[in-house]
Amino acid sequence: MERKHLLYFFTTDAAPSPFDINMAYDAGFHAVIPYGNVNEETGTLLVQDIIFSRGPKGTKFTALFIGGDNVETAEKLRAAAVKSMFPPFQVSLMIDPKGAYTTAAALVAKVETGLGGLSGRKAAILGATGPVGRVAATHCAKSGCEVIVGSRSRESAERLAKGIREKAGGTVTGAQMGTDEEKLPILKGVDLILATAKAGVEILSRSALEALPAGKLVADVNAVPPSGVAGLKPDDDMKEIASGIRGIGAIAIGTLKYGVEMEMLETIRTSKEFTDLDDASAMEIARRRLQ
Ligand SMILES: NC(=O)c1ccc[n+]([C@@H]2O[C@H](COP(=O)([O-])OP(=O)(O)OC[C@H]3O[C@@H](n4cnc5c(N)ncnc54)[C@H](OP(=O)(O)O)[C@@H]3O)[C@@H](O)[C@H]2O)c1
Repeated sequence: MERKHLLYFFTTDAAPSPFDINMAYDAGFHAVIPYGNVNEETGTLLVQDIIFSRGPKGTKFTALFIGGDNVETAEKLRAAAVKSMFPPFQVSLMIDPKGAYTTAAALVAKVETGLGGLSGRKAAILGATGPVGRVAATHCAKSGCEVIVGSRSRESAERLAKGIREKAGGTVTGAQMGTDEEKLPILKGVDLILATAKAGVEILSRSALEALPAGKLVADVNAVPPSGVAGLKPDDDMKEIASGIRGIGAIAIGTLKYGVEMEMLETIRTSKEFTDLDDASAMEIARRRLQ
């Protein structure tokens, strides 16, 4: 009898995301089995039931997806799941909390290509305290880019910057960037502006954009109108959006994000060896797909 490809979807949130469920079916899984509100303890018990029921051969037809709004909590669940498996009872897995790993990888790979490299550059991230912004900031710092993470709250920005420095190293500072007056002096001094604020929030106004000197690259991941950057359309890709300022929009980034997530899902579905895909895997795939 033909084995069915099963994907177990654990999330630390109440409701697993339909975005990831749809993508998993499109990646060829025969069934996607969602579990909400999973924690380290329940995750460990669920993994034990998953690995033993289909035998060593069946594990190759079984995979695990870890999601959740909070990156740190989702990473703890992933660590507990990995710890509860052992050869030959191991199922391949991937983690993409709130889509942040695949989205941040696509965002950073796109701007890295657009600028011809990130090393020695300076970036400001608006709305950096969400999952996408913090992961993007970490990738930029690891790539040798000086990063200023922005928030409406100085305290949140500084706490985030400290956390990234401790985890990834690099030059990362936090700044209160709620109003145009707070944003402009900082944005004037950077090469790169990443807009990673909440969906549907315009985080960079037209007047602020037009007050910036030429030569900058601006990228926005918000696909829910209005655009996160005034005048930047979702499918713009290195288009001039103000005098001497180029922009990359949310669909241009989302197309690469889709490709990265699809490749990760297909890899854990078809891999014959135990495979564990994370933020570094997403970044490596995004960079390769742009070569
Ligand atoms: N293109 C794609 O393929 C794709 C895929 C996934 C996600 N996304 C998009 O990526 C973006 C970031 O997602 P996320 O989940 O990381 O974001 P999030 O957690 O919802 O929000 C990020 C930050 O936005 C700030 N913010 C919230 N409301 C605001 C307001 N009214 N004015 C100014 N700032 C505000 C908050 O920072 P402070 O409170 O610290 O100021 C918050 O931490 C979203 O637009 C999402 O739709 C795109």
